[in-house]
Amino acid sequence: MKEIKLKNGQTLTIAPPSIDDAKELACYVNSIRFESKFITYSEEDKPYTLAKEEEWIKSTLNSDRSFIFIAKLDGKIVGSANFGPVSNKVRLTHRCEMGLSVSKQFWGLGIASEIMKVLIEKAKEARFEQIELQVVEENSAARHLYKKFGFYETGFINHSMKYSDGSYAKSMLMQKDLI
Ligand SMILES: CC(C)(COP(=O)(O)OP(=O)(O)OC[C@H]1O[C@@H](n2cnc3c(N)ncnc32)[C@H](O)[C@@H]1OP(=O)(O)O)[C@@H](O)C(=O)NCCC(=O)NCCS
Repeated sequence: MKEIKLKNGQTLTIAPPSIDDAKELACYVNSIRFESKFITYSEEDKPYTLAKEEEWIKSTLNSDRSFIFIAKLDGKIVGSANFGPVSNKVRLTHRCEMGLSVSKQFWGLGIASEIMKVLIEKAKEARFEQIELQVVEENSAARHLYKKFGFYETGFINHSMKYSDGSYAKSMLMQKDLI
């Protein structure tokens, strides 16, 4: 577990979740889908169940290549991230993909930056050679964050997301080389 003093003086912890965190993690994931149009999971999707969350946590606890991290402030989950192989095919096992979110109320405190440091270290330890992600073009905070940590843009996907009003988002493909 990593402990960090934030810009506002509060102590942030970052660690993989235990099974006991499943209920709160499901609530966290179910709540952030209302907070941003830049994540794929939306209010139109079914909420995650406790069983699904427990299954996901267990699968990462039994793996040396897939990880979840949760960031807690005063014991409450305020952010999470995960990474894992893009595929289990042998020729693709050097590549991982990641996802990241912080609860809106806590944006701008440096929480995502602290999570990124932990995630990158762990991805190196897990012997991945590159981290890949997709980020919506308009998501300037996330694009800034990823560039700050050495990610660069490799392409884009047009119409990567379709919103309920019929409009689309374009996503940038980014990667960070670890070797
Ligand atoms: C993107 C996100 C994870 C950032 O979390 P955060 O904890 O607020 O991030 P940090 O406080 O570590 O700040 C990240 C950087 O972005 C910068 N930033 C914030 N808003 C910005 C904006 N609108 N445009 C450009 N940069 C911005 C900050 O100044 C900071 O940069 P700095 O360290 O050089 O000053 C958070 O906004 C979020 O969860 N958004 C919704 C989900 C999402 O978009 N996830 C990523 C999907 S790919």
